[in-house]
Amino acid sequence: MTEKFERNPQQKESREQESIIVRCFEVEGKEADVRYASQEDYQAVADIFEDQRRLRAERDHKLPEKPADDEMLEASRRIDERDKFIVLVSEIEDLVCGYVELGWYGGDTAFVHAITVLEKYQGKKLGKELMESCISEAQNRFNVKNIELSVIAQNKNAVSLYNKLGFKEKEIQKGVDEWDNKPADRVSMVKHLNSGK
Ligand SMILES: CC(C)(COP(=O)(O)OP(=O)(O)OC[C@H]1O[C@@H](n2cnc3c(N)ncnc32)[C@H](O)[C@@H]1OP(=O)(O)O)[C@@H](O)C(=O)NCCC(=O)NCCS
Repeated sequence: MTEKFERNPQQKESREQESIIVRCFEVEGKEADVRYASQEDYQAVADIFEDQRRLRAERDHKLPEKPADDEMLEASRRIDERDKFIVLVSEIEDLVCGYVELGWYGGDTAFVHAITVLEKYQGKKLGKELMESCISEAQNRFNVKNIELSVIAQNKNAVSLYNKLGFKEKEIQKGVDEWDNKPADRVSMVKHLNSGK
């Protein structure tokens, strides 16, 4: 665990019990970190999901989807299931602005299920910091050899991020998704880690 910036000791202690800080960095001269999510992040994570739904609806020229009744409850449950899930948030000066979730179900491979940065904070390396933190936590905690994820081929920003982090294309499912109201391909990607079980 690294802590480059000082917080008042009481604040720091209570945060560390709930949500371990995995890395600290700077974004445009402001303190930023990636840390384990806690139940206190529930609303912030819900807001990130909402922002993402709005963007997807704008892109596809549709009305935003309503969240499934139990979607947020499931997300909240996974925050506490640390033997199976890694749920990290990124924050800039205590404002939660990004989220990544990875699941491990035994074996050599873990799966990144979701990564999202609030639109306003995209392009500031938060996605990269979240992914790198998540990969390194999965490697240390679950001792996996591979990280897998899937992405819509047209999502150039995400594909570019994954390529930069060393993910390679594994499989393409043609036309199973939708992007800008048109059928789109879904690409499965894998990153092989240097060490594992
Ligand atoms: C994909 C996403 C998580 C990337 O996070 P981010 O914080 O915006 O990305 P970063 O600033 O860390 O950028 C890292 C790399 O990603 C790529 N990238 C990110 N934003 C980009 C943009 N607007 N244009 C081009 N490339 C971009 C680049 O390769 C970039 O590396 P570089 O800055 O050295 O060129 C973010 O854009 C997002 O939340 N998108 C909406 C949700 C989503 O699509 N999630 C992925 C589902 S599979």
